[in-house]
Amino acid sequence: MVAAALAAVTLLAVVAAAAAVVSDEAPALSRDELAATACSLRRFSAHAVANDKSVREELYDEIDGGRPVVVTGHTFDEQFWSIEHLGEVFPGLYDVSDDVNVAEDEAMRAQLREHYDVPEWLNRDGLVPTFGSDYVFVGRLMDVNDRHIDSGCAVSFSFQLAGVKLWDLDNPGNRSAGADDFDSCVLHPGDVLVFYPGWYHETTVLSDEPSLAISLYFSSPAWSLNRYYAAYADHLLAIPEYCSCYKTMLPETVDDAELAAGYKASCDYIRSQKSFMDDDVVLDGNCPEGFA
Ligand SMILES: *[C@@H]1O[C@H](CO)[C@@H](O)[C@H](O)[C@H]1NC(C)=O
Repeated sequence: MVAAALAAVTLLAVVAAAAAVVSDEAPALSRDELAATACSLRRFSAHAVANDKSVREELYDEIDGGRPVVVTGHTFDEQFWSIEHLGEVFPGLYDVSDDVNVAEDEAMRAQLREHYDVPEWLNRDGLVPTFGSDYVFVGRLMDVNDRHIDSGCAVSFSFQLAGVKLWDLDNPGNRSAGADDFDSCVLHPGDVLVFYPGWYHETTVLSDEPSLAISLYFSSPAWSLNRYYAAYADHLLAIPEYCSCYKTMLPETVDDAELAAGYKASCDYIRSQKSFMDDDVVLDGNCPEGFA
């Protein structure tokens, strides 16, 4: 219960951040050039994942390594997902002029989920993840949601429901906004992208038709990101957005109160030095002893 309440607070911060960075500036490349971007992420078909055990294992192997993945071809109620229609279905609740609407209300979430299915493959070993609120992201042609990282310790997915959107993603090791060696993938309706805390992302809408996508944050005991955290936990725990995630990223802190207290103190220090969601925070070398 406490965990759920904390998650809700964190999720609000995520939305504030996401809403604040939408820019009007068109990217240097044309829509067609961007649309021709090759997908550098592993892509799996939802049908193969559901029916072929070895494909499913491959998917989980990629996930366990902490690389973003795309699963294509999910079915959903295509008629339902347009901006106009959402405005009609949720009068007063859904603001069609906003870039992001949050369905925190259980009834609204249930209503949305009647028209799309949370992908079945998010369940693993009979375990179902714990989900946060549904975020409905809206974008119009060439709208750019500038490169940023979300806060919060949870994995997230984005389900593209209408329109076409380019995602550029780069790993937590990239602290400079000038990084040009990122991963890219263009999502079409029915495509689902999963990515991990700390991955930077920027999106650009490439279709005349407005883009609609649902994002959900979730945690799952059956998804082990040990390899991912082995590579990036030091990086993530040194910045304000993620320094409180030590229990997720370092399982040994769960049963070691002293160790956990040390990380908590470090996090308090980091947050006292830099404001939450501050951009370009570089604290390396400036952190308490024993902390990355
Ligand atoms: C930046 O992220 C990309 C995508 O994950 C990766 O290929 C590249 O090596 C990263 N660059 C650095 C400097 O970490």
